[in-house]
Amino acid sequence: MDAATVWAERQEGRGIPPEILAKAPNNPFHHDVDYFAAPSQPVDTPSRRAALELLADGGTVLDVGCGGGAAAFALVGRITHATGVDQQQDMLDSFAAAARARDLPYRTVAGRWPDVAAEAGTADVVVSHHVLHNVVDLPPFVRALTAAARRGVVVEMMTQHPTAWLDPLWERFHGLHRPPSATTDDAVGVLRELGIEPAVQRWERASDRRDPVWVARRLCLPEDRVPEVDAVLDDLDRVRTAATLTWTVG
Ligand SMILES: C[S@@+](CC[C@H](N)C(=O)[O-])C[C@H]1O[C@@H](n2cnc3c(N)ncnc32)[C@H](O)[C@@H]1O
Repeated sequence: MDAATVWAERQEGRGIPPEILAKAPNNPFHHDVDYFAAPSQPVDTPSRRAALELLADGGTVLDVGCGGGAAAFALVGRITHATGVDQQQDMLDSFAAAARARDLPYRTVAGRWPDVAAEAGTADVVVSHHVLHNVVDLPPFVRALTAAARRGVVVEMMTQHPTAWLDPLWERFHGLHRPPSATTDDAVGVLRELGIEPAVQRWERASDRRDPVWVARRLCLPEDRVPEVDAVLDDLDRVRTAATLTWTVG
C-alpha cells in the first residue's frame, strides 16, 4: 500500500461514528479561537528557527491553517507581509487583529486549503503548523504548499494525532476502540512519494492546557459528564512530541 493511502486510511479510521456524532451537544471538531491566539512574545522553537533560516534577510510568509497566526507572527522582524489562510472566519479575524497590533501588512484568505491556493498566491516561505492531522488526502495539500513557496516550507505537527492521548477515554465512555493514529513517519513517507526529502526535527512541546470541558466536548459528551472526565484526566499519558518538517524549493 502506498504511503498516501496508509495516511488516508489512518486518518479516516479516527473519524467519529455517526451515531456518536449525532448525539454530540457541541461540534467536537471546532477549534477554539482563544486557544490559538498568537503569543505576544514568540516562542523559540525548531520551526521558528527553520523559517527564520529560510527567510534569511527577510521576505514574505504564507501561513496555511493559520489560526491566530502563531507561526507567522513568530517571524515578525524578519517578514514584510503575512498572508493567513484558514477555513474558520473567527481565526482569520484573530490573525488580522494580531497583524494590525504588530503594524504588519497582511491579507487573509477564507477557505479550505488547497481549494483556495490560487487565491492565496505565493510567498517566500510557507508555514503550516498543526494542520496535517486534519487532512485526509495529503498529496494535494502538500503539493500546493510546495507550489506556493518561493524558498521553502516549514510544517509543524505532533508526532501522533494531537488527540490520540484521549483514545483510552473513547473506550471508557463510548466502548469505542480507536485504531492507531497517523504519525510523522507516515507523513514523511507521503512527502517522499512526492519527491520531497524533508529535514525532520523532533522536540518536546511545552505542556498544554488541562481542560476537562474541552476534552468532554471532543468526546461528544454533555457538560454534566465533565466531572467524570476531570477525575480520569491525570491518569492519561499525554505525548507532547512535536516534529518540524522543512524542505526547500526551486
Ligand atoms: C490546530 S489549529 C492550528 C492553528 C495554528 N496554525 C497554530 O499552530 O496555532 C488548525 C487550524 O487549521 C485550520 N484548518 C484545518 N484544515 C484546514 C484546511 N484544509 N484549510 C484551511 N484551514 C484549515 C483550522 O480551522 C484551524 O484554525
